[in-house]
Amino acid sequence: MDYPRLFEFVESRKEEFLAELGSILRIQSVSADPTKKGEMLRCAEAVSAAMRSVGIENVKLHETEGNPLVYGDYQHSPGRPTVLVYGHYDVQPVDPVSEWETPPFEPTVRGSDLYARGSSDDKGQLFIHLKAFQAMKTIEGDFPVNLKYIFEGEEEIGSVHLEPFIRSHADLLKADVVVISDTAMYGRDMPTICYGLRGMAYTELTVRNAQVDLHSGSFGGAVENPVHVLADIISRLHDRYGRVTVPHFYDDVAQVSDVEREEIARLPYSDAEFLRQSGAVAPFGEYGYSTNERLWIRPTLDVNGIFGGFTGEGAKTIIPSKATAKISMRLVPDQKSTRVLDLFESFVREIAPPTAIVELKKLHSGEPAITPIDHPAVRAASAALEQVFGAKPYFIREGGSIPEVLTFQESLGAPVVLLGFGLPDENSHAPNEHLYLRHFFDGIKTVAVLYDKIGGK
Ligand code: BES
Ligand code: ZN
Repeated sequence: MDYPRLFEFVESRKEEFLAELGSILRIQSVSADPTKKGEMLRCAEAVSAAMRSVGIENVKLHETEGNPLVYGDYQHSPGRPTVLVYGHYDVQPVDPVSEWETPPFEPTVRGSDLYARGSSDDKGQLFIHLKAFQAMKTIEGDFPVNLKYIFEGEEEIGSVHLEPFIRSHADLLKADVVVISDTAMYGRDMPTICYGLRGMAYTELTVRNAQVDLHSGSFGGAVENPVHVLADIISRLHDRYGRVTVPHFYDDVAQVSDVEREEIARLPYSDAEFLRQSGAVAPFGEYGYSTNERLWIRPTLDVNGIFGGFTGEGAKTIIPSKATAKISMRLVPDQKSTRVLDLFESFVREIAPPTAIVELKKLHSGEPAITPIDHPAVRAASAALEQVFGAKPYFIREGGSIPEVLTFQESLGAPVVLLGFGLPDENSHAPNEHLYLRHFFDGIKTVAVLYDKIGGK
């Protein structure tokens, strides 16, 4: 394959690619927001149109009870491997919107980055694959592999409808390898292959007492305060060594080998860089583990939000009727989300006082996943990264979750290659999300080279 021509093609189309990505970033496809159903459909249609326009065939929206799935393929290389590409066109909510320097759905280039919700997670990375297809088709005319694409609109809310779709459409999606660009590189210009993701168990905990807020003069001190109970429960979920206190929480955590821990320790790391990336005051976490270990190989429990009672301006004297916390747990192999949620519920019920009512709602979950590091497709990805970035990739795990990775591996029997082009400090899920443009363009080149390498030409 003529790499210089491919690279020149990408370089010469930069403006055009950015403008096209921009039109998808303008769509407000926030899957968590029930008022954005129309935007979800509009986005699925825009992604379909972008697929058709580069020459991907059999593009079809598959309705689900949630947001539509977008499928497409290009299969003209009999006897050659089939690559299934997965990505998601839904994005996280944008609040607090006042903290965005430019509006979240008005894509703006500032310096070396493109700012917009979804620029990095995951519309920008999804788009890398469409443009890689276009580049390959234009430069080479044919493909050394067969390609299938499946894009969903519910990744950020737990991929509820993709999972049964994969299981019931295993033939349609059948592939030799699955490629996903929805993770981050270890740092700028540090090509990376991710081989492990954490799972997720998300729950909402509400403490209730009276039907309505009570006057705190008439009732304060004589009835239980749900905010106090919630705060007390939360304060008992960790010990002073940063360990989660839910009984049996760690029972199923698989031992990570000394060899792997040594490899993690050998990765370049500094607290200063971690603090720059996170903007946090100091590293913090489970005693006895390094920052990368805390993020990658240890399970965690975090309160994602808490509300209850009076939160407006000034003072109001009430005993709140209820208080709620959103609590999520990141899981590692071999923990199972259902078991962890059960353990959490038992513990909370055990420590809750009889003077208030505790309600638990399970929101969503996903299982942890480990992907192979020695599969030929991983070697091809490694070679493609080296070709474009001029350096061998780092092999890392990540702390985030992509619930479908395990489903792909189990139901298609195909290895997943996590070939991400984001960065840890691109503010995904936060205000001012952005995408480092060089990685976007180099990502396009890398994916095209990957097809060439997997096809063995
Ligand atoms: N792209 C992320 C996953 C990710 C984040 C990978 C950080 C590596 C590092 C993905 O879109 C995401 O945010 N997933 C959710 C899944 C959850 C809602 C089940 C997550 O991890 O919070
Ligand atoms: Zn994502």
